[in-house]
Amino acid sequence: MPGSTTAGSTTAGTKPARPGAEKWVPASADVESLARAVHDCRGCELWGPATQAVFSSGPADAALVLVGEQPGDREDREGEPFVGPAGRVLADALHAADLDPDEVYLTNAVKHFRFTERGKRRLHKTPDVAHIRACVPWLEAELAAVRPRVVVALGATAGRAVLGRPVRIGAERGQLLDGEPHDVLITTHPSALLRLRDRAEFGATFDAFVADLRTAADAAA
Ligand code: URA
Ligand code: SF4
Repeated sequence: MPGSTTAGSTTAGTKPARPGAEKWVPASADVESLARAVHDCRGCELWGPATQAVFSSGPADAALVLVGEQPGDREDREGEPFVGPAGRVLADALHAADLDPDEVYLTNAVKHFRFTERGKRRLHKTPDVAHIRACVPWLEAELAAVRPRVVVALGATAGRAVLGRPVRIGAERGQLLDGEPHDVLITTHPSALLRLRDRAEFGATFDAFVADLRTAADAAA
């Protein structure tokens, strides 16, 4: 498409270098060391067009971990997860679920922003399975360091990263999956809420999202 470039597309048959993140993930590292090391990661091609890697926020000993998809435009510029519009919906939902946002560890399945340029705008582009696979060693290392009781996967990308298989949000959301070393709960991505124009539909979806967060928090308590 003229005037548009896509991070992660295979233009003119060139295959992107995608060795996976393993090589850049320090062994048995704490969250702080992981967050420093991620900036050197070249595990896939997404680091190139992005401003910076975005790691996590929240306490490194949290009982509850929430995993998003990837940083958005704002997150890419600021270097913090969930500081844009989806983050606002998430903050509202955490508040409605009586959860202290400072007690939750927030991260993403993919640490670099994937986007398409449309003039001056950078449009979010969903990561491919190959990007999720390349990046998952970071998430695994985080979960090994934080050792939460419950991991909430926000949306299909996070679900795939956390469970290592395709997930269908409609069919699987809201059930607590007992597991070791942590339970998993799949729910909606807050960005999906932002796309709902109908007020009643937004309300019902928001309430279901809040109920899912509550289920996860109760299991983590
Ligand atoms: N959406 C995500 O999945 N993660 C972020 O950090 C921001 C928006
Ligand atoms: Fe590494 Fe993940 Fe960034 Fe790819 S998206 S370069 S695997 S941190």
